[in-house]
Amino acid sequence: MMRSIRSSRIFIRQLAQVTRHHCPETSWHIKRVRYFTQILASELLRMEMKGLTPEQACRTVELSHIHDIGKVCIPESILNRAGPLTDEQMERVRRHTEFGGYILDDLCLNMDVCTYQTAWNIVVYHHERFDGKGYPYALNGEDIPVCARIVALADVYDALSSPRCYKPAYTRSVCRDIIASEGGGHFDPFIVRAFLNIEEAFWNIHQTIGFQGDPCAQDKPQASIQQEKGVLI
Ligand SMILES: [Fe+2]
Ligand SMILES: [Fe+2]
Repeated sequence: MMRSIRSSRIFIRQLAQVTRHHCPETSWHIKRVRYFTQILASELLRMEMKGLTPEQACRTVELSHIHDIGKVCIPESILNRAGPLTDEQMERVRRHTEFGGYILDDLCLNMDVCTYQTAWNIVVYHHERFDGKGYPYALNGEDIPVCARIVALADVYDALSSPRCYKPAYTRSVCRDIIASEGGGHFDPFIVRAFLNIEEAFWNIHQTIGFQGDPCAQDKPQASIQQEKGVLI
């Protein structure tokens, strides 16, 4: 059993490495998301969140690394595109959750069951929303596995605070206010409360784990359709 868990961990790192090679912007993103997830999970344990055990928190941190593994199935020309995506391209990017599930089904069958289940939940459900307006399955509230609810907030915080090809980086106060306003909307309100307790630590991570260069240097990043629609991919 221990051997299986150890080899699962090594395999997870290798999978994360594949994502990094595919898209350098994603490389920094997954690094920061892992740190955000770590401090958020610790705070949630301190607050005794229902349904979150220390083992589950550790697995969530470890596996947050691969939440976007399905992006290896999306062409780099779309992922790194400067400016807004067409509706069709956006639909394709959204399918990274589904593709990620296929990758895990194909490659991870030898993982221990708990690791595999948590990995699948994070990869497939990290774009679900607490109010049921997310994708791919429009799951609602606590039907969304707790690990995916945690990674969802970490993921969106990074998207807000970093420049993307389709949007500028938002300031610290704008990031905090957007997350705070989404309790019960995009996010589990309990997790938003935990975030607000440790918001300064989130910002420090954002400042420390840097992204080198503009993701789309050929064009000035600007607000776009995706931003207006509230879509953070
Ligand atoms: Fe994603
Ligand atoms: Fe992500």
